[in-house]
Parts: sequence; C-alpha cells; structure tokens
Amino acid sequence: MVTHVSDDDIGAIPGWFLDYDVDLFRLLLGKTTERLGQGNLAELGVYLGKSAVLLGGALSDDEVLTVVDLFGEDAATVDNQSENDDQYVGLSRAAFEANYLKVHGRLPTIVTGPSESIVDHATRGSHRFVHVDASHHYEHVVGDIQAARELLMDDGVVVFDDYRSEHTPGVSAAVWRATASGLHPFALSPVKLYATFGNPQPWFDDVRAWATDSRWPHEFQHLAGGGVVRLWRGQQHSAAASTGRRSLRSRARNWVMAQRR
Ligand SMILES: C[S@@+](CC[C@H](N)C(=O)[O-])C[C@H]1O[C@@H](n2cnc3c(N)ncnc32)[C@H](O)[C@@H]1O
Repeated sequence: MVTHVSDDDIGAIPGWFLDYDVDLFRLLLGKTTERLGQGNLAELGVYLGKSAVLLGGALSDDEVLTVVDLFGEDAATVDNQSENDDQYVGLSRAAFEANYLKVHGRLPTIVTGPSESIVDHATRGSHRFVHVDASHHYEHVVGDIQAARELLMDDGVVVFDDYRSEHTPGVSAAVWRATASGLHPFALSPVKLYATFGNPQPWFDDVRAWATDSRWPHEFQHLAGGGVVRLWRGQQHSAAASTGRRSLRSRARNWVMAQRR
C-alpha cells in the first residue's frame, strides 16, 4: 500500500538527499506508476536510509523494493575502500534497518554486497525506478549503469547521484559516456541526473509541466538530441546550497558516532 512519507520522516535520517530531489522523486515515483503501471523499485547505496524510506512509501502491494549496500563490509578496490572509510564510518545494516522501521512496518529486500550484485537478487526488466547512489568510482558506476539497465522496464526511470560534483569525476565520466549508448537524460538537479534508457519525452513533459508551478527556478535546454529540465535553488539560498553537502556529511558522521557511544 502506498504510504505518505513526510519531510520530517526524511529529515530525521542523516544522509544526502536534498529538497529539490525529494520533490522530483515524489513526482516521478507517482508518474512511473501512472505511465508504467506496476513495477519494482531499487536503490544501489542506501547509507542510513534517507532516500530509501521515500522509495518504500511509493510501493504498492505487489511491488518490491530491493536495496544493496556494503554496510561496512570490505570493498573490492582500494579506492572504494578508502571512500567508504572516509565517508561512512560506523555504518551498519542494523542502523539502516532501525531507521527504515521507524517509517515503515516492514523491511525491503536488503542485499549486503557490491552494488552491481543487485541483479542476482532483483528481477530483471521489472523496475519502474532505480536510484544509483553507491560507489563514486568510474569502474563501479559503469557496473551500476549496466545493472540499472538490466533491472529497468523499457521506459523506466534511473537517477544518478553526484553526476557533476567536484569530488566525483568518476560518476560524471561514466554517466556522460552512457549518454552515447542509449541513456537519455530528461532532468537535472544540482546533484542528481534523471534519465531513461527508453523514450525520455513523456518524462520530460511531466517534469516540465510540474516545474512550471514548482518552487524551483528552472530552464529548458536541448542536450544531445533531447530536452532536459534543469532546476536549481534560488539566488538567496545559493551560499547555503554550496555548503549544504559538506554540513550534511559532518552531520551524518556525528549521528553515527553518537549511536556508537
Ligand atoms: C552516498 S551514500 C548513499 C546515500 C543514500 N542514498 C542517502 O540518501 O542518504 C553511498 C552508500 O553506498 C555504499 N557503497 C559504497 N560503495 C559501494 C559498493 N561498491 N557497493 C555497494 N554499496 C557501496 C556506502 O556504504 C554508502 O552507504
């Protein structure tokens, strides 16, 4: 049953999920049901569950949310391990589960392991929405793009986090490269890129119609043969926006440390 997940529910969980993306997720989770009917959801990289609880609220009775994370297990590469040691100290599956169960009555399907292994646990071709937010290193993101493509229904929506952040060039390289082989972006926030491997036009139309009445400044651009809606935070908030990710990171670290005391 679809359940409302409030801004307060999301705000209570440390992590990286900003208000414009919360709005876009709410829109597209609704629109994918309208346009595609029943379909599963997946998230690669959950951390403490901030975006996962919103996905969980969008599930109808016969749909499945599958999530994957290393939850502190060893990573396959040195780069990935040092990223995780630096950013996600003390993360545990138990902490994710506790946060999720504060919002929902039951857990999603949880996989502990490398992100691309999700294809061994979720049904290929059955997903209407996939959020890719795990390792930021090029070779892993290439694997995650392939995994998302295998999971998605023909016109399903895929979202990539950190596609343009200064500290994540591997995500940028992998995602933009995929636009040469079938990935069609239709919306861009400062942090996330929204795309499909199918027909982007209906999603572009949906976001454009919504953006016109939304609280976000936005513009329309042509990009590699398609239209994209680009939205951002208003001028008066721009300083807060540029420091927001850093303070979210230290807030998340403090939260984890407090749980361990
Ligand atoms: C940016 S956080 C996810 C944020 C989360 N979606 C949110 O909204 O707060 C990235 C997550 O990916 C996980 N991760 C990093 N490398 C991974 C890998 N190779 N496979 C699976 N998970 C990985 C980390 O443990 C961390 O929990």
